[in-house]
Amino acid sequence: MTVQIRKASAQDAQSLAELLKDIGWFESFKSEPIEAASQRVRLHIEQCLADNSHSIFVAEARDGAIVGYGSVHWLPYLFLQGPEGLVSELFVRESARGQGVGRELLRNIETEARVRGCARLSLINLRNRESYMRQFYVKAGWEERREAANFIYRIS
Ligand SMILES: CC(C)(COP(=O)(O)OP(=O)(O)OC[C@H]1O[C@@H](n2cnc3c(N)ncnc32)[C@H](O)[C@@H]1OP(=O)(O)O)[C@@H](O)C(=O)NCCC(=O)NCCS
Repeated sequence: MTVQIRKASAQDAQSLAELLKDIGWFESFKSEPIEAASQRVRLHIEQCLADNSHSIFVAEARDGAIVGYGSVHWLPYLFLQGPEGLVSELFVRESARGQGVGRELLRNIETEARVRGCARLSLINLRNRESYMRQFYVKAGWEERREAANFIYRIS
């Protein structure tokens, strides 16, 4: 599938909210009106655009529809030679999957990481996800850190 990868703007909020609703994984997106979800997504995009520490890439199809996006947060670790890029979100619309869009988003993130002089990229991929089982990241050259445990501390 031919897509153009570009940086997101606040105008993409509604398309991205609709994409997340379509994915169907997130309870809040299922139950809340699309206007409220779009408003929150817009706020988060604006927070990301406020400084140079975050990048959101969108994949735009020929007809202008946004079919996927990837978010990355550039973290300056004191013990690393360069920042780490934490890929927090990578989603492609179900109807557009398996056609190279996710790989193209990831490639743009990898390029931006090199331009920024990063030491590495990292992400969390749940083992029960199809992307993990189909080795999406391994095929793209990523290594699984089997020695690491992933912890979260829930606030809400
Ligand atoms: C994982 C994801 C981003 C990959 O993007 P994509 O555009 O479907 O993938 P590409 O076409 O670029 O790459 C193809 C590879 O992706 C994987 N893939 C393909 N279709 C997939 C699907 N429906 N679901 C999961 N992974 C898929 C396979 O590894 C495939 O390689 P193969 O053809 O050799 O089997 C996308 O499928 C997606 O949004 N899935 C749901 C959300 C998710 O799991 N995000 C990542 C976890 S944070």
